[in-house]
Amino acid sequence: MESNFKKDVCEGLSKENKTLSSMYFYDDEGSRIFQEIMAMPEYYLTNCEYEILSEQGKAIGENLSYTQPFRLIELGAGDGTKTFELIRNFQENGYEFEYLPVDVSRGALDSLEEKIKSSNLEVKYQLMQGDYFEVLNALPQDKPALYLFLGANIGNYNPAEALDLVQRIGSNMRSGDHLMIGFDLKKDSSIVHKAYDDPHGITKRFNMNLLTRMNRELGLNFDLNQFDFVCNYNPDNGEIRSYLKSLSDQSVGVNGSAFYFKKGELINTELSKKYDLEEIELLAGNSGFNVKSNYLDKNNYFTDSLWVKKQGQLK
Ligand code: AVJ
Repeated sequence: MESNFKKDVCEGLSKENKTLSSMYFYDDEGSRIFQEIMAMPEYYLTNCEYEILSEQGKAIGENLSYTQPFRLIELGAGDGTKTFELIRNFQENGYEFEYLPVDVSRGALDSLEEKIKSSNLEVKYQLMQGDYFEVLNALPQDKPALYLFLGANIGNYNPAEALDLVQRIGSNMRSGDHLMIGFDLKKDSSIVHKAYDDPHGITKRFNMNLLTRMNRELGLNFDLNQFDFVCNYNPDNGEIRSYLKSLSDQSVGVNGSAFYFKKGELINTELSKKYDLEEIELLAGNSGFNVKSNYLDKNNYFTDSLWVKKQGQLK
């Protein structure tokens, strides 16, 4: 993945509408800043999903109706805080299951393991390091499974990419297996806006860190004083887009391979799409799933949407 950073940056900054992939936010410093984002009150997503999994985890488990041991497979290791609530609820119900967090990052899995060990959870687990689809392909299909894709990570995908992603996850599932996805829901613009354009400047730091990372890892020379952070929410399609904005006419890089920026020009750094329940229903239907239940927080800001794989599936 690392080896594509340079190529992806070159391509993204050479486009008419400049882009950088949000997956590159997460170097060590970016991952630390993301923890700060999750801890700020304006970033309601974390608390909403925590509330759902801690208060409705029991009902979610019962809705699976599994009578035999199953696997709980989490795509993206997360920091455990929310998933542990689900696991706690499942254990209180007496279910027999094994927890399989999947992540490309060894570091993310190691720190999750630390948290499992220092929690009072006695859960059978196996850390799965690698690309999601390689790991899913290699898993035996001898037990029912609940796949988790939490935290509104799906919001980073545009609609075509999201469809492709859930179809690919589904192609490794048996009918009757479940997939639960965390979606942030469309809501009052000012609430969404404050969660991203936060008053503490933490999300700005998160975006600016991408410039620092490019300087360090690719030998570029972005002047951080010549860029600002802006974001824009479109309540019709639910898309909030984050940007780095050039504050002057400038070039970055060395003669021969420089990138030019006009004053006011934007680099799109992230899409965080908000959904409504109809869109979720459509996405599920188009990828071979039925929506079994939506579990919403008390404010109706967020849903963990529980899907079941249909029979006679699309690939
Ligand atoms: C981790 C992708 C869910 O889009 O809300 C938070 C990342 N970006 N603030 C999101 C993020 C800016 C986050 N996801």
